[in-house]
Amino acid sequence: MNKLLLSAAIAALSTGASAQTIGFSQIGSESGWRAAETTVTRQEAEARGIDLRFSDAQQRQENQIAAIRSFVAQGVDAILLAPVVATGWDSVLEEAKEAEIPVVLLDRRVDSADDLYLTAVGSDLVHEGEVAGQWLVDNKPEGTCRVVELQGTTGSSPAIDRATGFRNAIEGNAEIEIARSQTGDFTRSGGKEVMESFLQAEGGGDDICALYAHNDDMAIGAIQAIKEAGIDPGDDILIVSIDAVPDIFQAMAAGDANATVELTPNMAGPAFDALAAYMADGTEPEKFIQTESTLYTQDDDPMGEYEARKDLGY
Ligand code: AHR
Repeated sequence: MNKLLLSAAIAALSTGASAQTIGFSQIGSESGWRAAETTVTRQEAEARGIDLRFSDAQQRQENQIAAIRSFVAQGVDAILLAPVVATGWDSVLEEAKEAEIPVVLLDRRVDSADDLYLTAVGSDLVHEGEVAGQWLVDNKPEGTCRVVELQGTTGSSPAIDRATGFRNAIEGNAEIEIARSQTGDFTRSGGKEVMESFLQAEGGGDDICALYAHNDDMAIGAIQAIKEAGIDPGDDILIVSIDAVPDIFQAMAAGDANATVELTPNMAGPAFDALAAYMADGTEPEKFIQTESTLYTQDDDPMGEYEARKDLGY
């Protein structure tokens, strides 16, 4: 931000003359986690008196690019972007930078130069995969363990990084092998459909020891497919996934799922705080504001965790 714009922003804030207007380009609503992120972002904006302009891209990068261009044309004070895929953002981020509109990335990363955005709020996505993989290393049954993997949206940073992290964790354990890996696009229906094909290809499921799903929604779809095949999820096939949505805690309480790694849906709180400090006096945030990745298992009071989350917009 140049000095003129910065002093204008400070003046506006100190007189209370104008509320901030912030554009939010959201990916869509592919998962319970995504729905909760949208709800929490709206709540955090309302609590701060921010005028939030929301755009749902329905999973398409071109819609996100159009939304950012529209926010730039509207002259918003800042933009939040949850990028559906990691590549292809340079031009539009340069346009926002030229217009001196700070962009904050939420929950996913881009491969653009980091001077094209103010900061990124999110978890360490490789670490999430490592936590999931380490849980399997520590809890697998004796002998060879053939794992099937439901990947997230192809080309998205969580799909890339959660795959890498899991492989980092199981590397060196000769008994664990990834037998099959395919995208379920972070959706319940995708998880169910792909799990059905995995079961068919793997002796009706007898040859599968564990499922690693890049999110809970795909795991929940897969659990349905496993039950329909007459197999006991959580026992015959271990289930480990990521997000910590309420429904996975219900599945854990029922013994159908084993472990999940939490991803907080509150990315907007730290993003708005960073933007407020930047707007107030030009304070530059760290380039990466990291959220926690906590592991939950069946031993961690799953119904209590369900109750704590069930009204949060998932
Ligand atoms: O980018 C975060 C991922 O996107 C969540 O784990 C998944 O549920 C969502 O769709």
